[in-house]
Amino acid sequence: MGGIFGFICKKQRRVSDIIQGLKRLIYRGYNGTGIMFLDANGELKVVKQPVKVDEFKLDQDYFANIAVGHTRYASRGWPTYENTHPLLDCNSKIGVVADGLIYDYEIIRDDLKSKGHKFVSTTDVEVIPHLLEKNSVFDTANMLKGLFAFVALFSKKNVIYAVQMDQPLVIGINDKEECYYVSSDIQSLNNFAEEALIVPDFTLVEISLDGIKAVNIYTGEQVELREKKRVKPFPGGEKAGFPHYMLKEIYEVPDALISTSLSLMDKYLRLSSMILYGAKNIYIIGNGTSLHAGMLASYYLLQNGLNANVISAAEFPYYALNNVTTGTVIVAISQSGETSDVIRSVKLAKQRGAVIVGVTNYVGSRLALESNVYLPIAAGPEMAVPATKTFTSTILALLELSYYVGLNTNKRTQSDISSLNENVKALSKSLKEIMPRLEKSAEEIAEKIYTWGDFYVASSGIMYPLALEGALKLKEASGVHAEGFQMGELMHGPLTLATKGLPIIFIRPVEDEAQELYYKVLENSKQKGANLIAIESYDDRQKGEEGLLRLSVIKTVKDLMPISVAVALQMLAYKIGVKRNMPIDTPPALVKAVIY
Ligand code: AGP
Repeated sequence: MGGIFGFICKKQRRVSDIIQGLKRLIYRGYNGTGIMFLDANGELKVVKQPVKVDEFKLDQDYFANIAVGHTRYASRGWPTYENTHPLLDCNSKIGVVADGLIYDYEIIRDDLKSKGHKFVSTTDVEVIPHLLEKNSVFDTANMLKGLFAFVALFSKKNVIYAVQMDQPLVIGINDKEECYYVSSDIQSLNNFAEEALIVPDFTLVEISLDGIKAVNIYTGEQVELREKKRVKPFPGGEKAGFPHYMLKEIYEVPDALISTSLSLMDKYLRLSSMILYGAKNIYIIGNGTSLHAGMLASYYLLQNGLNANVISAAEFPYYALNNVTTGTVIVAISQSGETSDVIRSVKLAKQRGAVIVGVTNYVGSRLALESNVYLPIAAGPEMAVPATKTFTSTILALLELSYYVGLNTNKRTQSDISSLNENVKALSKSLKEIMPRLEKSAEEIAEKIYTWGDFYVASSGIMYPLALEGALKLKEASGVHAEGFQMGELMHGPLTLATKGLPIIFIRPVEDEAQELYYKVLENSKQKGANLIAIESYDDRQKGEEGLLRLSVIKTVKDLMPISVAVALQMLAYKIGVKRNMPIDTPPALVKAVIY
């Protein structure tokens, strides 16, 4: 994976402007940064370093009409200077930056080497500039197998060639400045362009100052770029004074909830809920944090009278796809809207006649485009790889959807929906108020526990997905091993390790029926010598619960408690990560949207 950002402008401009765009793409990769541009003589010039965008330096203040940059995720080849994009042809006249993977590059590279081409990197992408020495961009794209997007510049040619082979690319337009932009996503275009065209799958686009030409890679037929989106502001600037994006984004949870609530339009919730109500069978798919939100959604739907199967989007094609027919509805959740597993499963399910209800943070994403109807979660850009505000907003979107389903099944009334919205407002307000206190308490607990390893996170009922999510956040942000459990399951094996002072984070369940189990398991774990941390609201504390570390959360209605708890778990994982000096926003070997 990687992030691509470039411009072609009538007037010369600072090449370093590219860096601003690349900074917004670091979630796509951060193992190397490079920029290529055409100098005053039209010659290709490249500056690249195997560092994050923040550390990247241009050796002087260059100006150009055409420049393209890249932030790299090192999937094929180590993060070295040679492997950093742009990659060049034998004569350094052709430069290429790319996103995604080329599957058959080894065969092509061996063939090119046998014909005398000199390779300097171990990346898959380097085959592209070498192929371009003898072949057109169109033919080159046709020769490659994989999931990728690439952008090529040629010495003496004032054209950006952009190829979209199932990896996202958008084209920004700024008529006033007479500039076009090319980027991996729309949000990076804020302050550069007002509108963006979404490049459809399998398209070659030539962008010059005379305009944009697009053709289909397989047929060669002209393509009209019809999908146009407005570029939205990038709220809060970059880190807005916070030390990490993750902390900034946790602080943005309360506003994001309001924004989600406002953007979920009644007519789309009604339409989606009717689609679900009329479904023959329902599958909820997603990965990682989105899968955890999907698990919660299945609980919410059940309370509102509908049964849905939740499956990792990575597993879906192996055993659920055969059950998909006309009448199946897939609720596909992906904050990025680009995750390969989700897109692949959605496409396969569509071929078998399924209807897709998408839930995503990105309106121009491939999930949004593939969905029959989609719910925008509108949480604003999320840069840290560990998902925070998109998780809480996704939960809210799915909860609202389930309430609308409840209107169809007569489990809910319109007034339930109104009071849910009132409760969301109240929760958002209280979260905003307590955030600094929560940060402080999480920091105090982190101070005591950051040297501990191997955490268990346990809960029951609708909080069980939160236990899984808490464990995931500990892995990603804190860099510690953690596992999530259903509380009762701890008794069936896992507690055997508790004698060694094992840290267990207990999230108090919200169901009355589960309270007894909570105390039993808590007591049992204490007896066995576990180190306990309880996450519960101040109101729920009971006398007699001594010897625990506690992180208090806001008490709200049962259905919204997962949001309240999510914020506490995120903050705790963040603070442990800080104490352990982890690269919190960019955990090793991870990217924001997993593409393979
Ligand atoms: C979340 O913190 C993780 N980075 C990861 O599990 C993520 O949720 C997963 O890859 C799915 O991403 P998506 O929502 O963009 O599809």
